[in-house]
Amino acid sequence: MQIKSAIFNVSARDLASAPNWHRPEFAFIGRSNVGKSSIINMLSNKDGLAKVSATPGKTQLLNFFVMNESWCIVDLPGYGYAKVAKSEKINFNESVGDYLEQRENLRQVFVLIDSRLEPQRIDIDFVTWLGGCRVPFTLVFTKADKQSPAKTQAAIQAFLKSIPGLHPETTPVIISSSKDRTGRVAILKSIEQELQS
Ligand code: GTP
Ligand code: MG
Repeated sequence: MQIKSAIFNVSARDLASAPNWHRPEFAFIGRSNVGKSSIINMLSNKDGLAKVSATPGKTQLLNFFVMNESWCIVDLPGYGYAKVAKSEKINFNESVGDYLEQRENLRQVFVLIDSRLEPQRIDIDFVTWLGGCRVPFTLVFTKADKQSPAKTQAAIQAFLKSIPGLHPETTPVIISSSKDRTGRVAILKSIEQELQS
């Protein structure tokens, strides 16, 4: 799929203020700093489309981008982790939970995981939670340029093994690097397949 246009539309603070349209949406989520905005810029061929920052937590709103005048990318706020009343809970903002659980336009979620890290509790918990939602998801292992392909593969296998109930054979996985544009074709192909189904 060629990207002919990529235009920022709106930042919404919650599901109620999300655009009222029928365009299919593809959401990108992951820990702060995992490279969400960088991937969106890579996909769109526009460096400044989504704001990239060295400071985690820059994206706090649901940001909607219209692609090829027909479908949308949604840049979701990165999730964090907080201790709540002694028990640890996933601390993504409420609007993200609402969006992922209730948005009818949502067709697929790309969960970004830093390929350099051991399986992180927060990613494990989030993917486990997402597995209970109706929406299909793809795991995208980011920043692959920073290490050897063998290390990236080992990280993927370790992550897949760490999620109870996840079937490694049937879980779609994409390796990415926004630096050398790895994974761009695979992500767009996945979106295209979903759009045609
Ligand atoms: P928040 O919106 O703050 O949660 O972060 P984000 O997930 O949108 O991450 P962002 O795209 O802003 O990238 C965070 C940092 O990682 C920036 O310094 C990027 O330049 C860097 N980065 C992102 N992707 C890659 C990649 O594939 N390779 C390398 N080497 N650096 C990357
Ligand atoms: Mg961002």
